[in-house]
Amino acid sequence: MCGIVGYVGGQDALPILLGGLEALEYRGYDSSGLALVKDGRVEITRATGKLHELKKLFAAQLAVAKSSATQGIGHTRWATHGRPTETNAHPHCAGRVSLIHNGIIENYVELRAELEKQGCFFKSETDTEVAAHLLNTLLEKGLDPREAMRQMCAAVRGSYAFLAIDEKTPGHIFVAKNSTPIIIGKGQGENFVASDIPAVLQHTRRIVVLEDGDLADVTADAIYIENGRKPVERREETVSWDPITAQKGGYKHFMVKEIFDQSQAVADTLRGRFSIETGAIFLPELAGLEAVAKRLKRVILVGCGTAWHACLEGKFFIENFAKIPCDVDYASEFRYRPQLFDSDTLVVAVSQSGETLDTLGAIECVKDRATTLAICNVVGASICRRADMVLYTHAGPEISVASTKAFSTQLIALELLGLFLAERRDTMSPSTRRAIVESMIHAPVGISNALKVEPAVVSIAKRLATARDFLFLGRGTCYPIALEGALKLKEISYIHAEGYPAGEMKHGPIALIDESMPVVVILQREKTLFEKTLSNLREVEARGAKVVVVTDAPEDRQLGIASDFIIRVPFVSPELSPLLLNLPLQLLAYHVAVMNGTDVDLPQNLAKSVTGE
Ligand code: G6P
Repeated sequence: MCGIVGYVGGQDALPILLGGLEALEYRGYDSSGLALVKDGRVEITRATGKLHELKKLFAAQLAVAKSSATQGIGHTRWATHGRPTETNAHPHCAGRVSLIHNGIIENYVELRAELEKQGCFFKSETDTEVAAHLLNTLLEKGLDPREAMRQMCAAVRGSYAFLAIDEKTPGHIFVAKNSTPIIIGKGQGENFVASDIPAVLQHTRRIVVLEDGDLADVTADAIYIENGRKPVERREETVSWDPITAQKGGYKHFMVKEIFDQSQAVADTLRGRFSIETGAIFLPELAGLEAVAKRLKRVILVGCGTAWHACLEGKFFIENFAKIPCDVDYASEFRYRPQLFDSDTLVVAVSQSGETLDTLGAIECVKDRATTLAICNVVGASICRRADMVLYTHAGPEISVASTKAFSTQLIALELLGLFLAERRDTMSPSTRRAIVESMIHAPVGISNALKVEPAVVSIAKRLATARDFLFLGRGTCYPIALEGALKLKEISYIHAEGYPAGEMKHGPIALIDESMPVVVILQREKTLFEKTLSNLREVEARGAKVVVVTDAPEDRQLGIASDFIIRVPFVSPELSPLLLNLPLQLLAYHVAVMNGTDVDLPQNLAKSVTGE
């Protein structure tokens, strides 16, 4: 997860920026860079690897504790496409502009082509450089920096937190935010900007949180913020966080912070892994699959807990996209069963931690008899070392025992894997692949919008928090989501919950349904399954259950039932529906648990990483 920090004031900017980036190290990164303004000129320094590599480049200045810069911006980047190179590290420069960015610019291919036509020369492969060139072009046309920022933001589509410096306007940091967090830390004769509060806590506890659509112009003595061209006031808050609360980003629990991290985590998992123009999938880490992709006869996905639910979704991607029969198994079952497969089999182990003993055992027992791939969130974990190849999710550290952002990024990784195999096997037309890829870039913004249901979920949680049993129902790709919703609730609230395929309900669970049992139905928009699930829903309703419908169906689609609670999330694409429909279920589990006073981040009897059988 990338980190951002900016400073303008009277102190030496270098140690402040480096200290800020250090405070964000826990988010993970693989390159870093600074832009320092010295005597009206901007100096860029970037390095691959950890921050000490960047620091080495400043050794002389750090030794005399003087960099002679009182303004600068800094960035830690978590690369996802190929090697993290110095050229791809931020800040990116174009003419008089230096700029850093978190998020994804969805229309960067078009913008880049247009800017290249106008004579701009691009040095990196990043989407970010487009914003730097665009801003520079607008400034060179004579626009003042605020207007140039407005027009640049109007031209880019996607999620972003931008920090920009114009060499001809020293003393100003220009900021813009959409769907990616950014805060301003207020000081005396100095101000700070960062992606996360821990980056500024050493210097100030007076924080202003920017909202979507905000543009800010920050100088040492003033903070100007506007939204929709109108000046706005954003409330100043004083944070009294200890270091742990700081890491929680001010949230009460890691779990809810991680739920709200998901837009960024998914953006980081996607970044650089496809071309929007051609729909091509870039996963150089899967080079070992290039030769075998065409002859694969079978894929087996294994995992435990939430990762196993991700595998169930993965089956849809592999079978629909790449047309390869795909089995899903619990790692703990798979490893003790006769494994009847030949060498044209790909075994994929999905694991957040990469340390789950059963998943590790599953990979070990097929080693040398099949091609193995790990989908994992922790670099260098045991499962990664055992597998032939690794496709990393880039969720950043997940601390809460209940897995949330790891699941969403696993779905994205599995979707990418399905597309990668489809491309190599010619099982999907390039235009279909391009359309799916295009929909994926809308995922981060879709997630941010879907999470806006939180207030509605809180009021539902209040009504249902005392129930002792819940049933979650779904069909097709919503069935694994029903399982995941039930698992999340039972893990952290200790309320019994079962996930079931909606069509199976009449073969058992229906006997349990009465007025005391909330039934959560995940209702996708796809017409046939929508109607089938709706008829199951009527059976539930007829038995007096309290029904919660979570759907992405259009508002004018008649439900024809007196559902007690309806939660609507935005629709982005059929492939992304499960990910988005799962978000309200994470929030429901979280708020029910909070209301019941459980230890949300460390639920009883559970461990984050299960290294026993
Ligand atoms: C434990 C955790 C779950 C997780 C499962 C698999 O049960 O509590 O949140 O889904 O292990 O973990 P892994 O690290 O392999 O994804």
